[in-house]
Amino acid sequence: MGQHTIRLHPLGKELVVNDQTPLIDLLHEYGVEFPCGGKGTCGKCQVKLLKGDIPVSASHRSKLDHFKLPDDCRLACQCLCTESITLQVEQYNHLILADESDFEFEPQSGVGVAVDLGTTTLVTQLVDLSNAKILAVETLLNPQVKYGADLISRIQAGLDGHLTEMTHLIRTAIGKMISIMLTGTNHNPNKIVLVGNTVMQRIFSGNDLAPLSCYPFHVEDLGLKSFSSSDLGWDFLADTTILFYPSIGSFVGSDILAGIAATGLYKKEKYTALIDLGTNGEIVVGNKDQIICASTAAGPAFEGANLSMGMRATTGAISSLRLAGTKIESSVIGKTEPKGICGSALIDAVAILLKLEQIGMFGEIGSGEERVQIDGPICLTQKDIYEFLLAKAAIAAGITILSKNLGIDTSEISEIYIAGGFGNYINTEHLLSTGMVETTEDKIHKMGNTALIGAKIFLFENGELSPKILGKTRHVNLEGFPEFQDIYISKMILG
Ligand code: FES
Repeated sequence: MGQHTIRLHPLGKELVVNDQTPLIDLLHEYGVEFPCGGKGTCGKCQVKLLKGDIPVSASHRSKLDHFKLPDDCRLACQCLCTESITLQVEQYNHLILADESDFEFEPQSGVGVAVDLGTTTLVTQLVDLSNAKILAVETLLNPQVKYGADLISRIQAGLDGHLTEMTHLIRTAIGKMISIMLTGTNHNPNKIVLVGNTVMQRIFSGNDLAPLSCYPFHVEDLGLKSFSSSDLGWDFLADTTILFYPSIGSFVGSDILAGIAATGLYKKEKYTALIDLGTNGEIVVGNKDQIICASTAAGPAFEGANLSMGMRATTGAISSLRLAGTKIESSVIGKTEPKGICGSALIDAVAILLKLEQIGMFGEIGSGEERVQIDGPICLTQKDIYEFLLAKAAIAAGITILSKNLGIDTSEISEIYIAGGFGNYINTEHLLSTGMVETTEDKIHKMGNTALIGAKIFLFENGELSPKILGKTRHVNLEGFPEFQDIYISKMILG
């Protein structure tokens, strides 16, 4: 009874907690992910018990057996703390992409704060509005990850009665990040701009998630949301305008609106594409006259969710692969033993296996085996390669259908911007060789965190830019096009 101490190795953290505290409520802050939201079905929240004990219930035991985990492992989502313990936490070093790139702006007085509210990660930047210099940066894991890694889990958690808690968690986390950036300064921001996908916008705003849970996913109020500091409990601010920028469609949020602003796509003469391979796999194609966008089902494979050894870009993930002669060499985040493979390396792996003729153009493993070795114990199974093929086909078909709807051929797209943290680590040569995008290497630009760049651009605008972009942007449902299935199937081929 009473209180217990939890020591986290190798972080060197000590937490004092009440008896019976669920580990899921604590460990998400330290990088442990709960991809299935604690249902016990993904096996990815495992931690190693170095000292002390955590009792295992019968249902927990059957899950440990199912995942063939050793006796000293536990699924953190199934555990209550009943005595002082030491745990080894391995998923602790997420790559969170901030941004320092230049952009055009009209100098103003004061400071502003740009916020990229991602499904997994949060980034805030304090910006000097006189020169666009970054004065401070804060990054954090989104505390909602304890309700699951993907958007479906968060929507489900909202439907299960956790919306108020998720809203509270995210407002508190971002408020804390902003307050840390302002500590020791005399600044009070004139303006705070938040961008994020539609689910994140609705959770932040405390809006019902039900419209996003079932077909036709029609959401009424996608527009700009404005808050006062007292609405959010951010009482350390005075007279600050706080805006969550509008979403474009049910699954295309203001992070993509910001991406359109960041790439300048809306003012270009020539057709340009923006691809974000993150959670929703959003695609935008357009120019100064017309823009069309859609989300695809590509995200989960690139986030490692449906792969047998898939993981996010955290410590132990193979982040890239290259071919040295006939030998595959890997880079592992944190320079440790590889524990899994993340999205950028998945593209590398498929491109290399194709080149080595270990897989065929339909993704079939040539040896007839069920798996192919990548590095040490890390393998891709036949199912993993098919998952990649589905994701690849969704992106390639999306670009084709959006182009057709603009009345152009994909060859008329003059530049392709790849957005998002994961996009930054992609090997473009490998991307091309899988056939995901059909262009030449010189036309592909890795643009980093376009959501954050766009949020900073919005700090300098007077409210006209987003209506201008939205006025020429159409959001479409790819599956609604009669030719979708045929094009999708035709793209399920490598090379
Ligand atoms: S098994 Fe999925 S979060 Fe624990």
